Amino acid sequence: MAVVRPVLLRSLGRSIRGLGGERSPVLAGHKLLYRCNLECHMCPFWRREDDPLLTLDEEVRMMDALVRAGVSFLGFEGGEPLLRPELPSILEEAHARFHTSVVTNGWLLAQRFREFRDDVEYLFVSLDGLRATHDRLRGIPRSFDRAVAGIRAVDGQVPLAISHTVTKDNLGEAGALVDLAEELGIRITVQVAYDYSTADAMSPDRARLRTTLESLLERKNEGAPLLESPEYFLALLGSWYGDRPWVCRPWMTINVDPSGRIVLPCYVLQEYSGRLPIWDVDVRALWNSFDWDRYGTCNRCALACYLEPSLFSWANPGMVRERVLEAAVEYLRVRRRGRTRGSLPVVGSRPPGGPPRTPAPVA
Ligand SMILES: C[S@@+](CC[C@H](N)C(=O)[O-])C[C@H]1O[C@@H](n2cnc3c(N)ncnc32)[C@H](O)[C@@H]1O
Ligand code: SF4
Ligand code: SF4
Repeated sequence: MAVVRPVLLRSLGRSIRGLGGERSPVLAGHKLLYRCNLECHMCPFWRREDDPLLTLDEEVRMMDALVRAGVSFLGFEGGEPLLRPELPSILEEAHARFHTSVVTNGWLLAQRFREFRDDVEYLFVSLDGLRATHDRLRGIPRSFDRAVAGIRAVDGQVPLAISHTVTKDNLGEAGALVDLAEELGIRITVQVAYDYSTADAMSPDRARLRTTLESLLERKNEGAPLLESPEYFLALLGSWYGDRPWVCRPWMTINVDPSGRIVLPCYVLQEYSGRLPIWDVDVRALWNSFDWDRYGTCNRCALACYLEPSLFSWANPGMVRERVLEAAVEYLRVRRRGRTRGSLPVVGSRPPGGPPRTPAPVA
């Protein structure tokens, strides 16, 4: 409990301060680089040139700035984070300060997991469909087989979930991906593709998407291993097909780009990216002077890292149970099992009693 208890107390403390009017981020996402070894149609990031990346010392300065800002969870993403040779050292520093997660396309997972297994607390592996669909959407042959081989190699050593992005080309396969997660004994998180202006327009047809969202909500209520809360699906259905917008609180999640700059209001809109690196910014002052209110009813994306914290309420006992208490218990259980196994990869194993739960992923 040594790791979990202070985080719960800090998060609770922040929520209470939030009620008093002060804003501070709880989750952080950091793109370690834009470069990638895949070329997904819907993704803008692999198309960008990287400026010089942060050194390890600068990554640590960034983390210390996030600690000062009040962040408890730091998720690493990209580009492809496993392309960074220094990833193990970065994660070690991060784990000394935060709960950590990584989202990866899985290509290098089996090869590199041993290097950082002790410092990642939750791992997301992206799968955008079954083999043919995934390889087509990801632009590179064998990417499905490499990702699934990665999942099998690390399964049982770390809480693990498939990260699935629904696009116009894989709409019919969300259910099959939930089946695959069940078969593998892991969890799944489902996002809806957002149309970035610098990527292919891949967002799904809204009418067909509605059926998918409704059926995912049904699967969730039947006990399928979906990480999203029922409230997540209800918020999308209420907003996109009704007149009940959710209130987006993008200030709960802070995003830092590969050069160490804060991206505001969220990494989807990226309307503002400071010139200074985060360690030269007074984040708390920025957070309490930025005009967040005009994004409250934006409702344009469905990214769980923004939507789930926006929906979270300490007054909702179901959410507190699933997101906080069960997440803590599952985390400790899977890590303990991983440790007793030593560092050898365990192929095809499952945590007993079903897959782990966690707070919303940063992806
Ligand atoms: C940008 S990738 C970075 C990490 C890693 N390269 C991977 O693919 O998992 C993180 C997640 O963003 C998702 N993603 C990519 N393009 C997206 C889009 N246009 N809208 C929503 N999610 C998207 C990917 O499917 C992936 O699950
Ligand atoms: S979604 Fe991930 S794997 Fe695909 S191109 Fe973007 S960064 Fe690379
Ligand atoms: S709904 Fe999405 S795009 Fe809009 S402000 Fe919130 S996080 Fe950003």
